[in-house]
Amino acid sequence: MKRLIIFAFCWLACSAWGEAEVQLNKVEVATDLPTLARGAETVMTVCNGCHSLKYIHFRELAKLGVEKDKVDGWRGSNPMGTAIASQMPADAAAASFGKAPPDLSLMAKAREGEANYIYSYLLGYYTAPDGTTGNHYYPPTKMPDVLAVAGVTDPAQLAELNKKAREVTSFLVWAADPHAQERKSLGLYVLGYLLVFTTMMYFLKGRIWATLEKV
Ligand code: HEC
Repeated sequence: MKRLIIFAFCWLACSAWGEAEVQLNKVEVATDLPTLARGAETVMTVCNGCHSLKYIHFRELAKLGVEKDKVDGWRGSNPMGTAIASQMPADAAAASFGKAPPDLSLMAKAREGEANYIYSYLLGYYTAPDGTTGNHYYPPTKMPDVLAVAGVTDPAQLAELNKKAREVTSFLVWAADPHAQERKSLGLYVLGYLLVFTTMMYFLKGRIWATLEKV
């Protein structure tokens, strides 16, 4: 009985503690090229002002379907195979914001909550009663409200911001594992090959044994 009471107490305490934590908003991550290309464009025109994507090259943006003119504009005189550096040197950014903006290549895997965290964080800015800007998901963050979310109440504008944050998040999920799609199709191809090969071997075995039994 005593054990049961202790168990019930712990269970109640734990669930109360869990509820006190901020719940992340769930995002449905897109994998279609048009959405990824739109996400890439926002990341290159907004986020790249401060963040690098050191494991992604300009060529890969073109492969996603971002128009060549745009990719050319971003890369300037750099070759297509150049890794994407931040437009602001890390020490200058650290001096301006008090913290260097981290590289975003693997960010979708680097934080607990993964895609849901990025999505929630980008949309999590609000204006506090004293007029300062806060973030529900990373309260002490030094990153400004880059999508201009705080204070927006108009439903159409909010829907537009949600869409943008979803595109950016989907692009960052792709960036953290750009070859996931190719790997999946290669896996299917290998499975198909093995199936055909096994069937052929099965019939070949039957024929060989049929000849042997006659001998
Ligand atoms: C004006 C500069 C600036 C821009 C533009 C910017 N960021 Fe940041 N970002 C920062 C800084 C500075 C930090 C470090 C914040 C900290 O740890 O306090 C940061 C941190 C982050 C983090 C990590 C948060 C964490 O949990 O550590 C993510 C994710 C992120 N930014 C995503 C983005 C995305 C996506 C965009 C574009 C929509 C973007 N940022 C645009 C400055 C910027």
